[in-house]
This record gives sequence, C-alpha cells and structure tokens, in this order.
Amino acid sequence: MNFTQTWSGSNGHPRQRSRSRASRRHVRLANPNKALFNLKLLLALLLALAVLSCSKTAPRLTFWVGGAPQEVDFWESLIDDFENRTGLKVEVIRQPSATEQRKQGLVLALGARQPDPDLFVMDIVWVSQFIRSDWLSPLNGYFDEGGLRPADYFENIVDSVDRYDGQYFALPAFLDVGVLYYRTDLLSRYGFKDPPATWEDLLRQAVGIQQAERRRNPNFNGFVWQGAQYEGLVCTLLEFARSHGGGFQRNGRLDLNQGENRAALTFMQDLIHKHGISPANTYTEMREEEVRQAFQRGNALFERNWLYAWRLHQRDGSAVQGKVGLAALPHTAGRAGAATLGGWHLGISKHSDAKAQAWRLAAFLLSKEVQKKMLLRLGWYSCRKDVYRDPEMRAKVDHIDLLQNIVAHAVSRPSRPYYDQVSRVIQRHANDCLAGKTDARTALDRMQQEIEQVEKYYAPQ
Ligand code: GLC
Repeated sequence: MNFTQTWSGSNGHPRQRSRSRASRRHVRLANPNKALFNLKLLLALLLALAVLSCSKTAPRLTFWVGGAPQEVDFWESLIDDFENRTGLKVEVIRQPSATEQRKQGLVLALGARQPDPDLFVMDIVWVSQFIRSDWLSPLNGYFDEGGLRPADYFENIVDSVDRYDGQYFALPAFLDVGVLYYRTDLLSRYGFKDPPATWEDLLRQAVGIQQAERRRNPNFNGFVWQGAQYEGLVCTLLEFARSHGGGFQRNGRLDLNQGENRAALTFMQDLIHKHGISPANTYTEMREEEVRQAFQRGNALFERNWLYAWRLHQRDGSAVQGKVGLAALPHTAGRAGAATLGGWHLGISKHSDAKAQAWRLAAFLLSKEVQKKMLLRLGWYSCRKDVYRDPEMRAKVDHIDLLQNIVAHAVSRPSRPYYDQVSRVIQRHANDCLAGKTDARTALDRMQQEIEQVEKYYAPQ
C-alpha cells in the first residue's frame, strides 16, 4: 500500500555528494566482461579501492533538520561539537520550520531511494507512515553500541510511536506539548491574580484587557493560536475538542462527529467572529512562528504554542522578556484540560550508505548530556527519563513539575500509516469553519464522511 500523496517541491537541495556517491557505485559495479579487460579492470579496481578507502577515512554524513532559524543554529552547534569529538564530517541541510514543508523534501528523497539524507528528524505523526513505507533502518542492532536502550525513554511514547513488529525504527529527539503563554504584567495590571483555568475565564480576561490595550496598540489581540490550514490546526482542534469533553476517536475508531466537538469548534469560530479576541488572520496565516512572533512583539495577551516558544520569548530583543508565564491550556467548566502530544524523532534512512556513522551521530544527539543541553538552552523536553532525575535539571528548568504533569496527560493524534490523508480532511473542514464558510455541524459532518471514505480505502474491514 502506498501511503504517500503526490508531493510537489523539495526542500533538501540536491547536492554534489549524492552524485559522487552514485558515481562511486558506478565504478564498483562496472562490468568486467567487456573488452580491454585486464588493464581497465585493474584501473577500475584501483580507483574503486582508492575511493572506498578515502570514504572510509573521511565519511561524510548528511543530516536534515528544520525549525526556527535559532533552532537550526543550535543543531549546528551540536554538530560542530560532534565533529570535533569524532573527526567525522557532517553536512547539515537546513529545512524550513513548518512540518508539511519539511516532510515534502524528505518524502521525495526517501521515496526516490537516494543515499541522502543519512539521518533526519521526523515529526511524531510521520513515523508510522515512514516505517510502513520501508524508509527507515531498524535500530535494535545498534543499541548496545550507543549505550542506548528504549527502556531509557518514556515507554508509552517509544513503544507506540517508534516500534513496529518488535523492532525500533526511530527514537525521540525531543517531545512537545501545547501550552498557554500569558502576559504576567498585563494580568496583574488589570487585577487578575492567576492565568485562566477555564475557557470561560480566558474569554473574560481577554475581552476586557484587549479592549483597554487597543487604545494604545490597535494591533493587540486577546488570544493567538494556530488556525491556518495545516497540521498545527489538527493539534489545536484536538486540544479544544478534548478540553470540551470530546476527541477524535471512540472505541478505537475515528469518530469526530461528537456533540462536544461541535461545541469546541463553535467556540474556536466564535473566538474570531463573535468575541473578536483572535485576529482574522488566525485562519489564513497563523502557524507556530506567526503566533510566536505576534506574542513576542507584545501584540497578544494569551498564546497557544509549543514548548520551544518559552526560551525565544525570554531572549534579548524580545518585547516580552521577563513578562511571560506558562500554564496548562484551559478547559471548559467541569472538564479536564488537554495538550496535544507533539515532538520530533530521529531516524536513519534505509537507503543511507553511512548507517554506522549516522547511528554514532544519533547516539550522540540522544545522549543524556546533549538532551540536557537541549532542555536548558531551548526548552526542548527530553523523552529520556534520567534527565528528570538529574538534580541540575530539577534546579534549573522552569516549570519542570508542571510540564511533567502536562506531558503525562497529553493526547496523541490518531496513529495511522495514512494519517496524512486523515489530517488533510480535518484541516480543510476545520479551516472552512474558522473562516466562517460553514458552521461546526456541517464541518464535522463532512469531515466524518470523508474520513470514513479514507478509512475504507486504506483499511477496509
Ligand atoms: C510541532 C510539534 C509537531 C506538530 C507540529 C504542528 O512542531 O512538535 O508534532 O505536528 O508542531 O505544526
């Protein structure tokens, strides 16, 4: 079964190294039965040996990774460290920040069985598709070498995401959850002691403060969140749905047409069109980075975003440095809050011609030392259990207990090798509703009908 859609455009730039690898192979496979056998074969063998021995002494790895510019800079600094320690050379191919764009480049390269990238970072929701498309190398054989064991990780995550048929095909570089960022200075200026626990509280605080703040800053909004038509909207919809008592699945089947989901989607639409605390560009352009920047420029009271935004808000030059709080996302009265589980996992390409070196790099990035650095510098939450037992981490990481609690209750998007197709249906209809083209009932009806067709096609009963 092919789980891949038609992809257009690549983000990984074709590179000289791929060509030279291909031509090396050509030398190795040259047919000796042709004329001029002796001399040419000898020369070819010598050349092949020279190339092979050269590639042994100076193997070059390609690592594809994306994110906000500061995040990729950080990956590069880790790679420098790895190169200095091992003498191996790594070529980092920078990918964009949006998850779909990152995926397009990888799907093209892996689908075409190119030897690059050797190692890459995958969104948690792609892993199942990549495994079932046979694009990932099994890792069990390497574990002893890197001193890594799946038991070092939160088992509920590695076992449900990275394992298939008894083999592990990926490991988490870091995990992610949706949280609420808020302006501590504004809440206290307007007399609110705590961040909102319920959506009703959030609405009350945001409506009043937005009205007052707009006198000074016409660009000010009460609440910014991801509503553009892309994967991030599936994550926010899941959070609103769960925190209204709904969800995406019932009895193991995808079932979005629930009354609680209707209330949740209506509330999302109302935030924009009725209450006016979320801007109209929520459904046209708001992805992670647009949302983070709006808040970081001082133009919002509340922000829904992933963990990475915390450190960036505190950097020099941020208009909100020292004025940001972090809380669990609200819920509707009488329900529990919910955060979508996100995160990025490392995998080695099945077609890599430098698998052993790729594993050395993966083991380095997954080591406790590097995982601690990721958490301290960028606020990326490790999936290794020992990181949270470490006294240094307990002393230095903000909100560590709160975050552990949020992670422990995080909800996963449905895991399916054809998740992409399901996600696109959800994105399209949820976005139509946010844009005011349909009401929540119609959007969810259509979503459910189309999802059932997708399921019938990919997983006929
Ligand atoms: C974050 C999450 C990822 C999610 C994406 C959606 O990067 O870590 O899992 O799919 O946002 O935009």
